[in-house]
Amino acid sequence: MSAYHIIDHTFDVVVVGAGGSGLRATLECARQGLRTACITKVFPTRSHTVAAQGGVAAALGNMGEDDWRWHMYDTVKGSDWLGDQDAIEYLCKNAPEAVYELEHFGVPFSRTEDGRIYQRAFGGMTSNYGQGIAQRTCAAADRTGHAMLHTLYGQCVKHEVNFFIEYFALDLIKDGDAVVGVMAWNLDDGTIHRFRAHKVIMATGGYGRIYLSCTGAHTQTGDGNAMVLRAGLPLQDMEFVQFHPTGVFGAGVLITEGVRGEGGYLTNSEGERFMERYAPHAKDLASRDVVSRAMTVEIREGRGVGPNKDHIFLHLSHLDPKIIHERLPGIAESARIFAGVDVTKEPIPVLPTVHYNMGGIPCAYTGQALTLKDGNPDTPVQGLMAVGEAACVSVHGANRLGSNSLIDLVVFGKAAGVYAAESLKGVTGHHDLPKNAGDEALARFDKYRNAKGGTPTADLRLAMQKAMQADAAVFRTGETLKNGQKAIDEIYGRLKDINVSDRSMVWNTDLVETLEFENLIQQAIVTVEGAVVRHESRGAHAREDFPNRDDQNWMKHTLSWLDPATGYAKLDYRPVHTYTLTNEVEYIPPKARTY
Ligand code: FUM
Repeated sequence: MSAYHIIDHTFDVVVVGAGGSGLRATLECARQGLRTACITKVFPTRSHTVAAQGGVAAALGNMGEDDWRWHMYDTVKGSDWLGDQDAIEYLCKNAPEAVYELEHFGVPFSRTEDGRIYQRAFGGMTSNYGQGIAQRTCAAADRTGHAMLHTLYGQCVKHEVNFFIEYFALDLIKDGDAVVGVMAWNLDDGTIHRFRAHKVIMATGGYGRIYLSCTGAHTQTGDGNAMVLRAGLPLQDMEFVQFHPTGVFGAGVLITEGVRGEGGYLTNSEGERFMERYAPHAKDLASRDVVSRAMTVEIREGRGVGPNKDHIFLHLSHLDPKIIHERLPGIAESARIFAGVDVTKEPIPVLPTVHYNMGGIPCAYTGQALTLKDGNPDTPVQGLMAVGEAACVSVHGANRLGSNSLIDLVVFGKAAGVYAAESLKGVTGHHDLPKNAGDEALARFDKYRNAKGGTPTADLRLAMQKAMQADAAVFRTGETLKNGQKAIDEIYGRLKDINVSDRSMVWNTDLVETLEFENLIQQAIVTVEGAVVRHESRGAHAREDFPNRDDQNWMKHTLSWLDPATGYAKLDYRPVHTYTLTNEVEYIPPKARTY
């Protein structure tokens, strides 16, 4: 598009996103001697990892015996047997080293009396293959993500990484089947940039904002996932959306699971600790899918609290105020600001709230993006990699255990840097970009910049968020999902009538929100499509019309492609990896659920 002047850059690796996984991948690429750029739409320390509270899982054994194999068992079970066991082995085995590395980078972990890293209990984390409760979640009070993000950013600065801050990534550049770069818009001065790279690593996070109530930042729009869809590549397991049991009622702000790890508990309108009925063994520390469903049933059956009986109470006033002050200061503040509650005296009103996307860009534990081609479900996509919540490795399968996200960011962020360096050994110089590289991205950008329809972006976004909240919720049925599908299709059709009133290039938030909205709704389409078709209940996907897990027919990953022109989604499947990475541990076969 000749109307836009393009500024060109060439790097070995371009990382898109500067949350925990993006920064860890960027840092590793830089340490490996690769010319690395990190493009981010927000200042790195404002990335959503900053909001992660409770901690980072690793079997350090500081607070009782622990073993990475027990961590692996819990993660496989937590995933409801949709996780790939080779990748889960890699995650759990490498977790302790990754945490010690963070400690050495400078993360200010909370400490035990004898100076070791403090670890708390978290949902689904057990000792001895489910026999006891493990204290495995390493914490920096309840601001662990904040501490990690700031430390990793400091390390990147130390390694003189090339940051492109407040640059909005628009679309991938492809040459045939290979990814060779990415287009971006500098929000601050309005310039357009074309990045050529041997590897583009997507680290763009989740897309929780397709829902109305979400613990994620408003910037969590899954931009990388949508770029991958528009590049004609698939996303994986998008129907698996995690609801965190304890979002502040009405605000959606996260109250860490660490509260229950420190001894907090949930009650209904009868003052009953109802989790004892649903999960007699794990109780309030059952995995998130189990707790969120139990809370929803309590409310549905009339035992919710409050004037409308539409939420649940989370108690921590029985805890020693010293513990709250030392280990949970952030949530005490959030509860005061967002619920007007003094946690030392009153319970916090909470409700399950969208928190995490298990699905994303299919990739190996090395970060190498994969697709299904000519019958091969593990076909590498040349030039494309993914890490963090944007990626589906898949270690979380159908349901992620709390504190397995922060460890995923750093273990696989580092693995991606190592893999990028290995695969670029001996590579010198870059091929020429295809003629007109980036033109399609700019045409899309220009179309929205000049959109003169009758519907403001905010109206369409709200309609999408309401539809997803109502029809693709904690519990789903064929009927609700079909309603959701119809609503989302109709809203996608109305994109043609979108209105952008600001035509400027500098800090045009109207245009940013419109581009983000298109990214969101494209992911909403494949999320609902995958959920309609999956006729079973597994992890976070709870179908009331198909209440059982069906390993015979459904122990497989969903792949979804989108035709952006029509909004038509095509589905296919790839097998779950039912093998481990080494012979240090055996494959864990599916078992009936016990809590
Ligand atoms: O509850 C929490 O602190 C969230 C942690 C996580 O999602 O891993």
